Amino acid sequence: MRWAWAEVDLAAIAHNIEVVRRTLVSDGTTPAAVWAVVKADGYGHGAVSVARAALDAGAVGLCVALTQEGVALRDAGVSAPILVLSEQPAEDAAAIVAHALIPTVYTPAGITALDGAARGGAARVGVHLKVDTGMHRAGAQPAEAVAAADAIAGSAGLHLAGVFTHLAVADEPGAPSNTLQLDRFDEVLAALRAAGHEPPVVHAANSAATLTLPAARRDLVRLGIAMYGIEPGPEISRVCGELRPALSLHARVSLVKTVSAGEGVSYGLRHVFEREAVVATVPIGYADGVPRRLFGNGGEVLLHGRRVPIVGVVTMDQLMIDCGDLQVAVGDEVVLIGAQRGSAGSDAITAEEWAARLGTIGYEVVCGISKRIDRRLRPTS
Ligand SMILES: Cc1ncc(COP(=O)(O)O)c(C=O)c1O
Repeated sequence: MRWAWAEVDLAAIAHNIEVVRRTLVSDGTTPAAVWAVVKADGYGHGAVSVARAALDAGAVGLCVALTQEGVALRDAGVSAPILVLSEQPAEDAAAIVAHALIPTVYTPAGITALDGAARGGAARVGVHLKVDTGMHRAGAQPAEAVAAADAIAGSAGLHLAGVFTHLAVADEPGAPSNTLQLDRFDEVLAALRAAGHEPPVVHAANSAATLTLPAARRDLVRLGIAMYGIEPGPEISRVCGELRPALSLHARVSLVKTVSAGEGVSYGLRHVFEREAVVATVPIGYADGVPRRLFGNGGEVLLHGRRVPIVGVVTMDQLMIDCGDLQVAVGDEVVLIGAQRGSAGSDAITAEEWAARLGTIGYEVVCGISKRIDRRLRPTS
């Protein structure tokens, strides 16, 4: 067993879905369904276990980014609806159909490729049409939407099962472009209806929109980061108070030594001790997803429940910490992300804290924890 691992708390996933479902019910109308976004191996938490936990907790569908991610879920025995959020290469069409994934389309070539794979099947394959209402990443342009829906309806193998869009700044609820994008989306939906297309399912909300923009909650919400207990952005932390982080990152001290005043530590000797220090080596590094630059940005870990600083640059497989006055021994547990209660106190370090130090977002922190780190399911208490 390697002395560095992540723990995934599936009870937190279930709790977070419950929190979101309560928000959705508070609308007073038919609540939107929850579809759990488990792309990128469940944001680094483990797609299969998160998918199962989410479905058990009331999610009714799953979203992935890639054909392969959907196929892996099917191979693991997951039978729930799985939406692939972007158009995939034409060569994937046969696998998408064979594994009963729900494809997203937005180009004539994408529609043709899927139709070719779906023709002759027992039933038409339902596809979701994605419309680019302003993010300019993926989707048909609004003016192209009716032609795309016509092509789907006129094909032999496909039918229009849904229409959706994605908001660029949902994590800034007051931003005018949220209203602009939703207005454009509604215009597209009206044009589709006028042309005789009635999509059975319409969706627009990611986590941030789910939590803060009721107008974006349509038939379903695509719930990613909030399900993992991480806030979508600092501007909406006020609505994230009830969320519980599902992932923690741990390691064990592998070596303890005393370093004299005036000596430096790690590559570049960029940290020099002003006084004699007890330094512990922790066998986790940037190849595991602990960014090298966490040193220099105030990076800390928890030891016996108290924060201690990372000293010297994080190396590929190991980092060093200054233990201060704490008694430390080889094998002692260090928490890099998560909570620790110990003889010296009780504290927590969040993915959001890392993100603030690193100038990034919590998403990148958890997705960055590499395959070298074992994901262990935390036993339910
Ligand atoms: C199209 C789409 N929908 C939904 C999501 C989920 O977003 P979030 O993790 O912010 O909930 C993503 C994630 O990036 C996405 O690309």
